[in-house]
Amino acid sequence: MKIGILGYGTVASGLVDIIDNNKDKRDISIEGILVRDVKKHEHRKHADVLTDNIEDIFKKDVDVIVELLGGLHPSYEYLKRAIENKINVVTANKDMLAEFGGELVSLAKENGVCIKFEASVGGGIPVLKPLIESLEGNEIDSISAILNGTTNFILSKMYDENLSYDEALKQAQDLGFAEANPEADVMGYDAGRKLSILSTLSFNKRIYWKDFYLEGINKIEPKDIEYAKQLGCKIKLVGRSKINNGKVNGYVRPVLVGNDDIISKIDNEFNIIVVNGDFLGEVSFVGKGAGKDATGSAVYADVLDIYDNRLNNVDAFIKEKVSVDKVVSSECKALIRFKKPQKDKIIQIIKDKFKEAEVIAQDDELAVVVDAPSECAINDSIKFIEDNNYCEDASKILKLS
Ligand code: HSE
Repeated sequence: MKIGILGYGTVASGLVDIIDNNKDKRDISIEGILVRDVKKHEHRKHADVLTDNIEDIFKKDVDVIVELLGGLHPSYEYLKRAIENKINVVTANKDMLAEFGGELVSLAKENGVCIKFEASVGGGIPVLKPLIESLEGNEIDSISAILNGTTNFILSKMYDENLSYDEALKQAQDLGFAEANPEADVMGYDAGRKLSILSTLSFNKRIYWKDFYLEGINKIEPKDIEYAKQLGCKIKLVGRSKINNGKVNGYVRPVLVGNDDIISKIDNEFNIIVVNGDFLGEVSFVGKGAGKDATGSAVYADVLDIYDNRLNNVDAFIKEKVSVDKVVSSECKALIRFKKPQKDKIIQIIKDKFKEAEVIAQDDELAVVVDAPSECAINDSIKFIEDNNYCEDASKILKLS
């Protein structure tokens, strides 16, 4: 089988290694690798097929185009053209699927080819295929997941080694986990896009990533980690979505996760996806969510599906789009921090508003843990306290329940 690879970054290097390693088992010939600057890659494997001109890839009559450029453009245009030319495509590009998944799947169906994208969610973890194929008889009603290796790495290093946010981010970048613009990682956009892909496939309805409540880890301070430890928890960037009577509720945000919860045990670049099916109950998928070899392995598995003629497309992307409720409307627990507080006033308000409220620190700031009937009730109390200038600044972190 002849393939063309678009891009020669971290994931493409992993793919090339695994193709070379398995040469005696599967005859996959790399016909072209598209790069921006050929000179920069001249010392690397397969340098003889490097090109900076997309036309060279299309001229080669390849069976599969593997898109590993990332970003929306020109990846979208290249994939569209490949599909229209009846070439099967593989991509790891979650940004593009989150935006154009529906259009590309429709186009692939029209042209009798397939689009595969296992590596777009969970890096090396084989999660999409089991969701689509093995859990088909189940109605999935919830997903709780760590979907970004970079932020999980940063939070782990802050928790375990007291590294600063900036030091930990630098390490994640050096290890090749982060996006070209790490804002997508730290602001929760990357996890949001992945959660939308997972939710679309699981709930069989089109769910748009920007409809989730999205909050990154950029405001997490060492003090938050200290409080988490005091409460027997870790802080994790969690994506959670639920469907109930056709209504979807979902977010990506930093949450407190109790030390006995499986999600709290997933550290560094590892990801976890926990789904709940009506027949199966809870099932978890765990593995490396970022990095060269792990993600290359997931891309390779997609290439093999095409090699072995498993050419199915998923319809979920072309289903009707549903709206998403962004706030947690059920009972929830939260840590709330008030900076420069008028302590007595705030404690009084909190005790009046919430059945359960525990003060866990009151030095130069006030930290409380409350049990609330809903997230709105917490937001309303914080707003009231801020509007009355009873503190300078307030922040909250929900506990995963
Ligand atoms: N930047 C992404 C992450 C890469 O850290 O999870 C894998 O999608």
